[in-house]
Amino acid sequence: MSSLTLESVEPVQQRIPPLLPVVGAQLQAPLIHGGTVRYANLDYAASAPAAAEVNEYLQEILPYYASVHRGAGYASQISTSVYENARHIVRAFVGAREADAVIFTRNTTDSLNLLAGCVPAGQGDVLYLDIEHHANLLPWQNLPHRSVVAQSTIAATLAALEHELAASPVVLLAVTGASNVTGEVLPVAQLAGLAHRYGARIVVDAAQLAPHRALAIAQDGVDYVAFSGHKLYAPFGAGVLVGPTDWLDAGTPHLAGGGAVADVRLDSVRWATGPARHEGGSPNVLGAATLAKATELLSSIPATQRAEHEDGLREHLITGLAKLDGVTVHTLFSDSEAYPGTGAIGVVNFSVAGYDAGLVAAYLSAEHGVGVRDGKFCAHPLLRRLGLPSGSLRASFGVGSQLEDAQRLCAGVAELLANGLTADYVVDTGRWVPAVDNRPFPAWAPNSPGTAGAAPCSTD
Ligand code: ALA
Repeated sequence: MSSLTLESVEPVQQRIPPLLPVVGAQLQAPLIHGGTVRYANLDYAASAPAAAEVNEYLQEILPYYASVHRGAGYASQISTSVYENARHIVRAFVGAREADAVIFTRNTTDSLNLLAGCVPAGQGDVLYLDIEHHANLLPWQNLPHRSVVAQSTIAATLAALEHELAASPVVLLAVTGASNVTGEVLPVAQLAGLAHRYGARIVVDAAQLAPHRALAIAQDGVDYVAFSGHKLYAPFGAGVLVGPTDWLDAGTPHLAGGGAVADVRLDSVRWATGPARHEGGSPNVLGAATLAKATELLSSIPATQRAEHEDGLREHLITGLAKLDGVTVHTLFSDSEAYPGTGAIGVVNFSVAGYDAGLVAAYLSAEHGVGVRDGKFCAHPLLRRLGLPSGSLRASFGVGSQLEDAQRLCAGVAELLANGLTADYVVDTGRWVPAVDNRPFPAWAPNSPGTAGAAPCSTD
């Protein structure tokens, strides 16, 4: 039984303060037994809050919002310029080659689906690891593909990949930059070298990596990279795919429609090349512009400062949870220290013995105002292989996080192990919820917590 309780936690917020102001930092979360507490958002890996500076920029450009590429008016010219300039900003952020295309999409999933429509046929399989998020797994299942089981070391995983690359032609190696389940970072430069040695290209799913680490795709030899604004402090509906134009200009247009064409006849079409080919319909100028602004903001923080903030929080969470009998922290690789620049981003994955992950998540929310994600994290093959078929818990954090968030989580779990639940919980529409839940939603939000229903990916 642990002696760590919510009451015993000293108020030491100032030791790891937030790195940047974010919108909603002072959000008050109602507790099931009454009162409110500052919401401890430990679910950044799912969707991060907007950075305050990104929101200010959004307010600044909003009055100029107008059609992109489609109008001669003053506001249209400004919107078009902001949209096109966003490509240059993103190109610089990922360290791309000058000739690489920067295509705006809805999110990482959209970007990878777009690329899947452009992989040339007849040149080999797409190869991926079993640790991938479904976004970097399902799009490839429509193409000739093979998968490789990640091993307990990075070294053995690289060897397993090399074995498959040598066995028969691979056209594309699709890998995550950082696992959305455990936060562990993969050595992308080495993976790129490996892919290229066997004549394959590489795409990095950087949905988790980009908010936490500097990217240098040209230097690392990465061909394609995809990531999302909503995990990068710009939750306004845009994602991006960056990479060489040859496949993209020859591939299937991602969204057939206005803007994606050079010429249209009643029963035929000549598609555009360049980003336009894949950006049919009115583009999301505000999403692209804010995504670009967020990349500038992140680039302005020295890497050492970001690492110090994140490593400090991770260390606190892992040490705090490891002290608790009954808590298991899940990781994939035992040799990350041998791969400089890997380690882990702001994600800690764990289970609490004797408690369903969804029940712990509901308890942390209802009794401690802590938001974590539970379930299978859209990575079913990995969770199944880890022996966690019904899921686990994930605490994830970023620039707006502070020490008290981590302390509150550790104290909440400690209290659960020491004293048990203090309310009844039931499964409603696939999710654990308090049996009686009077926590109010704001007047404008239609559902009460007990009837919110389970979105398919909420525990997925
Ligand atoms: N891909 C997001 C996650 O890992 C939604 O939570």
